[in-house]
Amino acid sequence: MFSINPFSELSGFIPSIAMQIFVIVMIILVVGGTILDMIHKKNVKYFFENAKKAKEAATKTVSAGEKATIILKTVASDILTSSEFCTIQRRFAHLLGMYGTIIFWITSAIMIFNYSTPSSVTPTMIPMLWHVGAMMTCIGTLWFWFVIRVNVSAEGNPWYQVIFADLFVLSLFATQVTALLWSYLQATGATGWDSLFLVLFILSNIVLFGGVYWSKFAHMFYKPGAAIQKHLAEADGSNSNLPEPADKPKQFGLGIRREDPSNY
Ligand code: HEM
Repeated sequence: MFSINPFSELSGFIPSIAMQIFVIVMIILVVGGTILDMIHKKNVKYFFENAKKAKEAATKTVSAGEKATIILKTVASDILTSSEFCTIQRRFAHLLGMYGTIIFWITSAIMIFNYSTPSSVTPTMIPMLWHVGAMMTCIGTLWFWFVIRVNVSAEGNPWYQVIFADLFVLSLFATQVTALLWSYLQATGATGWDSLFLVLFILSNIVLFGGVYWSKFAHMFYKPGAAIQKHLAEADGSNSNLPEPADKPKQFGLGIRREDPSNY
């Protein structure tokens, strides 16, 4: 199963051009959903107005070299290693989900655009990475869902309570768990069942990519910009118009982190 390209097997029934058009439509949905989201929330307008205000409140001039260093550090830390997360569990679960998804999407695109005919010979490494990526995402999103989610970890709600804000994490999980089950059923020759999971795989992708406007999907585009802006504002002294950090942070103990939230 791990070394089989499921899209090449599928091309016996669905032409590869249809799969490629599906991917292009999904990309268009993401771009469209993100643009509508930006128009609706006016977050980009707010971002630039805020950056302008911060510039006016700056107490230091940051040179181009310093800016480049800050941006590089933010990419290496906040973006590539999710250092923004306050606990190691949150950070690790996010890294699993983020890299799992990136690996899954890239290998899906490679297989669909280069190796999706019945005669295609796919390098074994690509379907292997596709399966590993999907498993990483499933572990990351399930960990988040059962343990880390604020509704469960802090508010004391049961894991099965679903709210609209869960659209992103649930549809992300659904795309990759149905992909794994489809691939497994296809490899074991479970005709009929494999078609069912293929349909579920397609539907969950339509929900994930078609739901960008309503879900948290677009955070993967906004968060990097916000992280860079935050660090630049720290360096130029404007500090996003926030008060200076306390000068004796450790003197009063752990504060809010003294105990786990259990006040419900
Ligand atoms: C393929 C890329 C990514 C995936 C699959 C992904 C996945 C996720 C998931 C599943 C959540 C939990 C959402 C929820 O609360 O329901 C999350 C939250 C978060 N992600 Fe990502 N993420 C990606 C990229 C990024 C990037 C590039 C950054 C930062 C530079 C980032 C920063 C955050 C932060 C700070 C949160 C928690 C706060 C919030 O919910 O707004 N993510 N991400």
